[in-house]
Amino acid sequence: MSNTNNTNSENLTAVSGKPISGIIFLVGYMGCGKSTKAKQLAHRLDCPVIDLDAEIVAKTGKSIAEYFAEFGEDGFRDYESEMLKTFDYPETCVVATGGGLPCFFDNMEWMNAHGETVYLQMEPAALVSRLHNRQKRPLIKDLTDEQLLVFIQEKLQERDPFYTQAKLIVDAFDLDGEKLEAALKA
Ligand code: S3P
Repeated sequence: MSNTNNTNSENLTAVSGKPISGIIFLVGYMGCGKSTKAKQLAHRLDCPVIDLDAEIVAKTGKSIAEYFAEFGEDGFRDYESEMLKTFDYPETCVVATGGGLPCFFDNMEWMNAHGETVYLQMEPAALVSRLHNRQKRPLIKDLTDEQLLVFIQEKLQERDPFYTQAKLIVDAFDLDGEKLEAALKA
């Protein structure tokens, strides 16, 4: 677990004993547990949780797979970036982001400027074992386990330079809301 830089956050008071506030963005690859950990952390902090993919589905009335099929990946990336930057965030909240979101446009920079960012880091093999239900994830829906491992290894090489711009990097294996809260306060 490493804390890259937690001094720039505008609203977050990440000091032991003091309450955590502000927007906390969880980033990381598909299957690392962003949505689950976001719910657990929000429960502990007694604040709302926002899942940006779920917001896209709610707003468009289309599943992510349907959105990809209709508008392509480029259309999806435009829409998710717009959703990120125009969402009316509560003052304090935990936000689960889509796995690719930090890696397009200036999204990572934007999140760093507007709150705390946490990269939930996980080894490719662990990600494969957690990505059983792939049908709702258009980028990997047709891959076997062997193909998925290679795909993730390659994608992580591209994406890590973005993910690692997060202010806080935590090992997502065995992580729960309590450990995440402790890491934010460390
Ligand atoms: C994507 C991850 C997905 C979703 C879309 C693209 C990606 O979100 O946004 O299928 O490019 O890694 P999850 O990380 O929540 O699965």
